[in-house]
Amino acid sequence: MSVSYTYLRLMSIIKKAFAYLNYLVRAKSEHGVHSPFVFELFTNVILNNENYYSYGVIEDLRTGLLSDSSEINVTDLGAGSAVLKSNKRRISDIARHSLMPAKYGQLLFRLVNYFQPQTVLELGTSLGITTLYMALANKGANIVSIVSIEGCGEISARAIQNIEKLNAGNVNLVRGDFDVVLIDLLPKLKRLDFVLFDGNHRRDTTLSYFERCLGFAHADSIFVFDDIHWSDEMIEAWEIIKRHERVTLSIDLFFMGIVFFRKEQQEKEHFVLRF
Ligand SMILES: C[S@@+](CC[C@H](N)C(=O)[O-])C[C@H]1O[C@@H](n2cnc3c(N)ncnc32)[C@H](O)[C@@H]1O
Repeated sequence: MSVSYTYLRLMSIIKKAFAYLNYLVRAKSEHGVHSPFVFELFTNVILNNENYYSYGVIEDLRTGLLSDSSEINVTDLGAGSAVLKSNKRRISDIARHSLMPAKYGQLLFRLVNYFQPQTVLELGTSLGITTLYMALANKGANIVSIVSIEGCGEISARAIQNIEKLNAGNVNLVRGDFDVVLIDLLPKLKRLDFVLFDGNHRRDTTLSYFERCLGFAHADSIFVFDDIHWSDEMIEAWEIIKRHERVTLSIDLFFMGIVFFRKEQQEKEHFVLRF
């Protein structure tokens, strides 16, 4: 590893640490939220600390992946990892560096459980951990249907095994580049109730996926963006998304951003909430 690479990594870590401190200073607790919709969402869903049965099952699966030293060849169609550089990677390394932490996976579970979307689209399956959190969120009458896209064949094959292991029959994994898959997939899905954008964290690609999905969004759709402060490019993309004329409400949780298109929202609002 060269000195300049180490220096750049260090600067990036320091910058992120400052950005996080700034978030902590600005973020509101539930006492500072006056919108009834956001207050209800914040207190009952975002901050909900109930322990659902599925959490344990999915985290047991993650623990297995974290100790899986088998290697696969990774085809990276995205912005790549800040940490993993080789194309040959251990499953344990992917599990450690590429997956959303339990706290945010569990938030996705609660969001799906609360809003009961019928059609969920995920961009970036990886090993299937967030796919499973969303798939296992409402097993009642309203079974959610998840379509998840992954560009790397060997990662996708592992995700299929994981999804089968937990009997999530409501998941349809699609292998391919987001750009290519979305062309045929979006018209087939017709409407998107919930979308998780968690792959190819670059400004222009994120904005292009957002615009394409927007064509299939409705007033009750929810779009969730992971890693909105991951890089300068992602910060820019998030600013543009927040300001988009169709977005009426946005919530910044630092590692995740949530946007709504609700017509009930009289004035556009943006919240930074402490999570
Ligand atoms: C951050 S990981 C997803 C993590 C997963 N959502 C989780 O937390 O359980 C992003 C994934 O998106 C995939 N990806 C990135 N760019 C892509 C593209 N252009 N087309 C298809 N897949 C892509 C990568 O191969 C990687 O597995």
